[in-house]
Amino acid sequence: MMFLLPMLIAAAPLAEPPVEAPAPAQTEAPVDWDKEFGVVRKERDPVTGEIPVDPYVQGDANAGARPYSGDGLARAFGGQAGIRRITDRALELSEADPRIKAIFEEHDMVRLRRTLFEQVCYLLNAGCTYTGRDMKTAHKGLGTTRADLNALVENLQRAMREARVSFAAQNRLLAKLAPMDRDVTER
Ligand code: HEM
Repeated sequence: MMFLLPMLIAAAPLAEPPVEAPAPAQTEAPVDWDKEFGVVRKERDPVTGEIPVDPYVQGDANAGARPYSGDGLARAFGGQAGIRRITDRALELSEADPRIKAIFEEHDMVRLRRTLFEQVCYLLNAGCTYTGRDMKTAHKGLGTTRADLNALVENLQRAMREARVSFAAQNRLLAKLAPMDRDVTER
């Protein structure tokens, strides 16, 4: 055994550090493409979590229709808490809907959740004012179609059904939204 040891040591490979290829020399500074194209990234408001939009004149007229009177519809929708659940659910379904989900990507869903709630709450006379943009301005350039609108309405109907809103009350809300089709679709 003893005489084998020197042979084993001699056979052991020399532990040399691996030779690494030298990194290619960085000849030019990386291009800041955002700067080149004048891209300005808007930061979310630390309090609201929303991305600021271009200035516009606020007012209930931006909601696209006059509200109902009386408190019947507000009650049929379960008050503001019920309306919020329904508008949140309609957006949740739409963001997962393969027919229209791509349209919502890259948009400020924090703001849309708030403004859609306000709009529906205002129209149902449930005690809100609408602070969002008018429908034409808000949907300009989205390229939405009548088929997209039908998909969104189906999701809203499902959200209302799940919340057990009566069929008659559902149709009252849809009657306010239907005439907005020309402003929210472009094709
Ligand atoms: C009558 C039907 C509709 C109503 C009542 C409605 C309501 C609204 C409201 C309240 C806003 C926010 C306004 C603001 O930010 O100031 C908005 C924005 C938006 N809506 Fe609609 N909408 C309708 C149809 C649609 C359809 C069919 C789609 C696409 C399937 C859509 C996609 C969007 C998107 C992506 C935004 C965000 C735009 C942005 O970030 O600038 N909407 N909508």
